[in-house]
Amino acid sequence: MAVIFENTVLPDIIELRNINQSYDNGKTFVIKDFNLLIEDKPNQGQFVVLLGPSGCGKSTVLRYVTGLQTPTSGEVLLKSKPRQESDRIGMVFQQYSSFPWLTVLENVALGLKFRNIPKNERNEMAMAMIKIVGLEGHEKKYAQYPTLSGGQLQRVAIARSLLVNNEIILMDEPFGALDTNTRLRMQDFLIDVWLKVHPTIILVTHDISEAVYLGDDVYIMSTAPSNIVEYIHIDLPFNRDRNIKRDKRFTELTHFIEDKMMSLSM
Ligand SMILES: Nc1ncnc2c1ncn2[C@@H]1O[C@H](COP(=O)(O)OP(=O)(O)OP(=O)(O)O)[C@@H](O)[C@H]1O
Ligand SMILES: [Mg+2]
Repeated sequence: MAVIFENTVLPDIIELRNINQSYDNGKTFVIKDFNLLIEDKPNQGQFVVLLGPSGCGKSTVLRYVTGLQTPTSGEVLLKSKPRQESDRIGMVFQQYSSFPWLTVLENVALGLKFRNIPKNERNEMAMAMIKIVGLEGHEKKYAQYPTLSGGQLQRVAIARSLLVNNEIILMDEPFGALDTNTRLRMQDFLIDVWLKVHPTIILVTHDISEAVYLGDDVYIMSTAPSNIVEYIHIDLPFNRDRNIKRDKRFTELTHFIEDKMMSLSM
């Protein structure tokens, strides 16, 4: 059963309506009758997490929102209006996506360059964001490994995305390539940035513990032809730190989601 979304008085920020995605001239349906409604929480931001089996269409859904792909049928709305080509939304990928021949500052300021913002102004804005993501002092380094670590490179991508659009940021398994220790630190870093900038974040992850730790709302997608089959509100305190992972409710939510995931057919 697909999840039914209730539209309340809150303004909508992202809506995918009646989406279908087919390939092979309609012979294969990857996504079918897919709906997702994310309401805005102004001045607070929110963490929406998408979980689902490999190949179910999570990255595809993010690509619709960022404009990299158009669905076979259905509507993509941003703030209740059909998505325009001029809408800019940043995306952070698993693989490092900065330009290694540009410095940290040039990478972070890149989106502003495309918007024809004068150099002085865009460098000032980029530096402010570089400070927020804790990379001050690294701005003149080239954005490449190992000059910057994996975690630092992902911070560059997050800073760049936030300057493209500070209201919405999409993340597709952003910490998947990092070692466990860096990954855990990046989760705390993301909470920190989120509390400062309060965007709406849609995060795709395969890590259930990460989903519960970071998420306000977790949606589970089914295998293809896929739609959203489960909604879990994470009723843990708003301000979280690592200690919450020892909380009984954290464990309950993690097990509940794991059971739901395992009940999906492959
Ligand atoms: N051009 C294409 N032709 C046929 N099928 C395609 C095409 N492009 C994508 N797909 C299919 O769309 C489905 C969804 O892909 P997507 O990358 O969104 O999955 P995902 O949920 O992000 O998976 P993962 O967790 O492995 O990253 C996959 O099964 C893929 O094979
Ligand atoms: Mg994917």
